[in-house]
Amino acid sequence: MERVSTGIEELDSKLSGGYPKKKVILITGVAGSGKTIFGIHYLYRACQEGKKCVLIATEETPEDILQQARMLEHDLEPYYEKGQLIIERVFESRTERIEETRYGFKPEGLDLELPYLAELVPEGTECVVIDNIGVFTIRLSVRKLRDEFDGLSHILMKKGCTVLYIMDEAAYNMTNQLAEYSAYGSIRLLVKENSYLGKMERYIYIPKMRSTPVSPYTSVFEISSKGIKIKASGDSEIIG
Ligand SMILES: Nc1ncnc2c1ncn2[C@@H]1O[C@H](COP(=O)(O)OP(=O)(O)OP(=O)(O)O)[C@@H](O)[C@H]1O
Ligand SMILES: [Mg+2]
Repeated sequence: MERVSTGIEELDSKLSGGYPKKKVILITGVAGSGKTIFGIHYLYRACQEGKKCVLIATEETPEDILQQARMLEHDLEPYYEKGQLIIERVFESRTERIEETRYGFKPEGLDLELPYLAELVPEGTECVVIDNIGVFTIRLSVRKLRDEFDGLSHILMKKGCTVLYIMDEAAYNMTNQLAEYSAYGSIRLLVKENSYLGKMERYIYIPKMRSTPVSPYTSVFEISSKGIKIKASGDSEIIG
């Protein structure tokens, strides 16, 4: 199976070269666990390789994301400027719609069918990140969620995209972790106390990656001014 680099060397080696090409991978984790930064690494590498990329962002403005990327020495701005990386601000259009419907406010006005997001992805795009897909799923029934998730994934894969769905922990739990069944692979980020060292540490765990042998162990990772670094020595403890 062909692979697309995750932009993180150690993760590429864990995944036999990278994310499975033209598939959908889910990244979940608590607030501040590093989800968006995983997305930044992925996009940066893809941009360096000349691939067309789309980031659909619901929580942060392009300026916030570009600044965060620059601070991690993964400057996305040149690619954004020349249009190789498109950053779509879905949240803003959502807020505008709330504003428009202020006087006749209908909660359905916020609804956006997930497959619609595929329209934001032009032909020829190879890498897509949706951060945070959780804002679209909380309102959905379990059955509808599965349909919409599969619908969007199907369209994006048909377009030839390798996709990262980033989902916050609350949405992940409220939807009974259903997204994990639907996705081709799943990566969980955790922040937990290391009782031996008496300090909080970041952990990455790969519960599922089809067509890829992965170890069922967690690894410790760190975030520094250069971004994410996964430590090899962390392959020792199972996190439940
Ligand atoms: N230069 C840096 N050095 C060390 N840690 C950093 C640096 N930049 C960011 N971080 C850490 O990264 C974390 C944020 O990562 P990120 O934004 O990817 O989290 P997230 O999982 O997307 O959070 P949210 O759920 O709020 O969107 C912060 O909590 C911060 O501690
Ligand atoms: Mg984030």
